[in-house]
Amino acid sequence: MKPRTSLCFLSLIYTLSFVASDTLPSNEVWALRSFKEAVYEDLYQVLSDWDTVEADPCNWFGVTCTMVRDHVIKLNISASSLKGFLAPELGQLTHLQELILHGNNLIGTIPRELGDLKYLRVLDLGMNQLTGPIPPEFGNLTQVVKM
Ligand SMILES: *[C@@H]1O[C@H](CO)[C@@H](O)[C@H](O)[C@H]1NC(C)=O
Ligand SMILES: *[C@@H]1O[C@H](CO)[C@@H](O)[C@H](O)[C@H]1NC(C)=O
Repeated sequence: MKPRTSLCFLSLIYTLSFVASDTLPSNEVWALRSFKEAVYEDLYQVLSDWDTVEADPCNWFGVTCTMVRDHVIKLNISASSLKGFLAPELGQLTHLQELILHGNNLIGTIPRELGDLKYLRVLDLGMNQLTGPIPPEFGNLTQVVKM
């Protein structure tokens, strides 16, 4: 009986440490990098800790991950004077629930890839210079805030 109990305990420890060491999938890291690359002016350097100083994307400014840090669930970079385009790669943040980029100087169109974000509840792209139609893929958002 005893050996079985300790084996059970060991496997519990193993499971816990496995969960705790979870990291973001590479496509989500890539999506965040692409987002930064599509920004060509960052006056207040809000993206300065994105990938250099702080290696874990879950600690980057404006990024929120799940408790076990295996997915990005929120991106909130508002009123930061970011100039640039919205990277279509953001559509790879498959577990994103909130995308808040209110009050920047983003230009161009809203990528239809954002329609792939099936858990997205809040989309706030208000107070930017985005143009063009809202892609039809956005049909399933339950809470679209200002465009
Ligand atoms: C987004 O971030 C700004 C500034 O950091 C904060 O004031 C605002 O409440 C945040 N919005 C949400 C929905 O978390
Ligand atoms: C909304 O979701 C349903 C079911 O998941 C899907 O069949 C439909 O194509 C989606 N509509 C849009 C506009 O993405």
